[in-house]
Amino acid sequence: MFENLKPQPADKILALMQMYREDPREQKIDLGVGVYKDANGVTPVMRAVKAAEHRIWEEQQTKAYTGLAGDPAYADAMITLILGTSVPRANIAAVATPGGTGACRQAFELIRMANPSARVFVSNPTWPNHISILNYLGIETVAYRYFDEETRGVDFDGMIEDLKTAKAGDLVLLHGCCHNPTGANLNMVQWQEVVNLINDRGLVAMIDIAYQGFGDGLNEDAQATRLVASSVKECLIAASCSKNFGVYRERTGLLMAISADAGQTALNQGTLAFLNRQNYSFPPDHGARVVTTILMDEGLRADWMAELEEVRLSMLGLRRQLADELQRLSGSDRFGFLAQHRGMFSRLGAAPELVEKLRVEHGIYMVGDSRMNIAGLNEATVPILAKAIIDVGV
Ligand code: LMR
Repeated sequence: MFENLKPQPADKILALMQMYREDPREQKIDLGVGVYKDANGVTPVMRAVKAAEHRIWEEQQTKAYTGLAGDPAYADAMITLILGTSVPRANIAAVATPGGTGACRQAFELIRMANPSARVFVSNPTWPNHISILNYLGIETVAYRYFDEETRGVDFDGMIEDLKTAKAGDLVLLHGCCHNPTGANLNMVQWQEVVNLINDRGLVAMIDIAYQGFGDGLNEDAQATRLVASSVKECLIAASCSKNFGVYRERTGLLMAISADAGQTALNQGTLAFLNRQNYSFPPDHGARVVTTILMDEGLRADWMAELEEVRLSMLGLRRQLADELQRLSGSDRFGFLAQHRGMFSRLGAAPELVEKLRVEHGIYMVGDSRMNIAGLNEATVPILAKAIIDVGV
């Protein structure tokens, strides 16, 4: 049996992570995988997470199973964090999932179950694992124009033109904030236009929100998701706590299925629970419990928000510093987009040969499409990166 297996393509982001680990050079900079690092290059356990873990350790009396949807208190707390009061709770079905990837996977499975002929429109580019999982599940994808290679912003006219080719029942996968991999985002006027198009053409919205709090602020980053969720007939939302709570390895995510018709919610909830049962039964609990403990406690929540804000501002500061440094070295404003982008990532717009050169000659690791993790920088490495970018001729 095993001899029939074929080697699978390595995930480019994870392969890069490995290459970086194996590079013996001392002067190396990791701008690959999307993990936040502080000025010392450490991915810290957030203060509120430590405190919540301590409290759980003291107070938890059992490790018995929760429910197939996870702890309902987790879903409630996350729904409030993401959607505020924009959608009545009665219209939302939700299950805990192993990370944001788990939420995407369950969403795609639900799509295939509900409408096997649906196509999923994905931004060009999108997070590569979206496409990988959709392909694996045999769901057809259609790329819509998104990143403008010239301006390094959004090609909004191209996006709308391409979305107009979607047929009723097709899905539109959108990044709620902090687009991965480009860092280029829609403004709220553009979001409204996308919502109108979705409604006019009978499309279904799906939002992946994995970086809430990393862009313009916790509420600001959820604004687009709230607009979509409260304006369309049906929508799926895949959320991750990996980044904003820094609980990467705990695999903490949530999938919501929202229907404008509350009469649909019980069926949606049952289907999501069924899908969890088929794939892994009960979703992981530890990260979800930590998140719930933080969100439900005023003090822990305030401390978490303060630390998240520090993280966000440090990334914005690094963006500004890098854009300024590149302006100084190049004598032009052509890198100004770095300060406009939001979230962890920016697509530099460098050709693959130059990305390779940066790695081989300068020990700078970024994903092959020139996605840089801004949080992999610090004040001391920004000038090194800027010089290398100019040296290789970006
Ligand atoms: C990333 O895009 O780097 C992160 O979302 C990590 C991952 O799983 O790819």
